[in-house]
Amino acid sequence: MRKVSIALAGAAIAAMVAGTSALADGHLEKAIDARNAQMTLYSWNLGMLGGMAKGTVEYDAAKASAAASNLAALSAMSSQGLWPEGSDSTAMAGKTRALPEIWSTYPAVAEKGAALKEAAAKLAQVAGNGLDALKGGVGDVGKACGDCHKQFRMPK
Ligand code: HEC
Repeated sequence: MRKVSIALAGAAIAAMVAGTSALADGHLEKAIDARNAQMTLYSWNLGMLGGMAKGTVEYDAAKASAAASNLAALSAMSSQGLWPEGSDSTAMAGKTRALPEIWSTYPAVAEKGAALKEAAAKLAQVAGNGLDALKGGVGDVGKACGDCHKQFRMPK
């Protein structure tokens, strides 16, 4: 039961089941752009943290803390409307890598979103506490991204 309530409460991808067929032309493309923009921001912030963890970017407590807080905020954001039905990689081939399984196995994808939210919140608490603390949490966030991509994103 707990899992279900986390999935329902999880802001990530929670509202994608809302029907959208009556909406204006171009709506699906806009939703695809918007969700990929969120992903780009994930990538930007995680890239900085990953660089610090690997040693290619110098560790800076304030910057690490800010980037991890950004990830936590982004993953807690409501994604209402971002994943309308009909915006999958079969219906809109070439325009999106979102696999139809996102919709056909719902709410499995929301659980992946909730896992990221949880990992990002933990990382935000420790990222400013030194390089070792950062390293400990970054891997879990990266894993949460990868877990969802493996199951729900079309490989390139
Ligand atoms: C709940 C599932 C899920 C989680 C969690 C998730 N992603 Fe994604 N991501 C996707 C899907 C699905 C797509 C493809 C979206 C599309 O093409 O419409 C995607 C696309 C992307 C893209 C491509 C963006 C573009 O413009 O083509 C990047 C980069 C990315 N994700 C990074 C991340 C990072 C970094 C994280 C973790 C901090 C993350 N994602 C977490 C599902 C997820």
